[in-house]
Amino acid sequence: MTIRFRLNTISTLVCLLSVSLWAQASPGDIAKQGLGDDVAPCSSCHGAHGQGNKAAGFPRLAGLGAPYLEAQLNDFASGARENAVMKPIANALSADQRRAMARYYSQLRSEPSQASTGQSENPPETGARLAEHGRWADDIPACVQCHGPAGVGVGEHFPALAGQPAAYLEGQLRAWRNGKRPGGPMGLMASIAAKLDESDIKPVAQYFAAQSPTSAKGGGS
Ligand code: HEC
Ligand code: HEC
Repeated sequence: MTIRFRLNTISTLVCLLSVSLWAQASPGDIAKQGLGDDVAPCSSCHGAHGQGNKAAGFPRLAGLGAPYLEAQLNDFASGARENAVMKPIANALSADQRRAMARYYSQLRSEPSQASTGQSENPPETGARLAEHGRWADDIPACVQCHGPAGVGVGEHFPALAGQPAAYLEGQLRAWRNGKRPGGPMGLMASIAAKLDESDIKPVAQYFAAQSPTSAKGGGS
């Protein structure tokens, strides 16, 4: 009886201790070591410096705006932005930890991911036209109006597209078309994505994937 009581007390204490250790884990620790069993290190997918992984289609986080990143983590946690990989991870973090991770990544410098340094990609002409000029006949503004020249990102709310994996960018445009991602500020992207068709999505994603992220501004650098 007493022994079991003591064992219970000890395991409760151990539990409380590890919970408080987790609560104290710095964003850098979480990024590099993960958190308990539920959160794999962010760096295992998003790269040691948050630079992303082009070959695997994992987006770059480094240098994107903190409010943008935090909103994405909250949306993954609530399920408003549907993603089976990110949902359990975002859910295992507290709201404070999601904010801290967003700040952490916003302050890292964006560097080209290994796979984008080659610059051998040749973005299709149709993608460049849509990105730089839009298509006014269909009421589509130039992407660079909000995302900055070559998609380097503007301020804290217009994320960089430059150097993101093409498959990732395509996936996001389709997610808006299918209602699997919230429209973002003022529903801007949902309404733009609704006007794109499949023959736009691939070329415009390839165009931005081929741009260099090194000059990205975002919250960091
Ligand atoms: C097992 C791989 C994996 C791990 C580990 C992982 N992520 Fe992700 N992450 C992804 C994938 C895949 C996406 C793209 C989801 C989509 O297509 O909507 C993503 C997207 C994101 C986004 C949205 C980026 C954008 O541009 O909108 C943020 C923010 C993010 N992850 C943060 C984190 C943080 C913080 C951690 C660690 C606590 C983490 N991720 C761990 C795979 C991972
Ligand atoms: C009127 C401003 C505006 C224009 C024009 C615009 N965007 Fe966006 N875009 C946004 C905003 C705001 C977000 C962030 C959405 C959010 O917070 O969820 C965004 C996000 C995105 C994302 C997701 C990035 C990520 O890291 O997940 C993609 C992809 C994207 N835009 C592609 C495009 C393309 C392609 C075009 C041109 C056809 C375009 N955008 C034009 C405002 C704009």
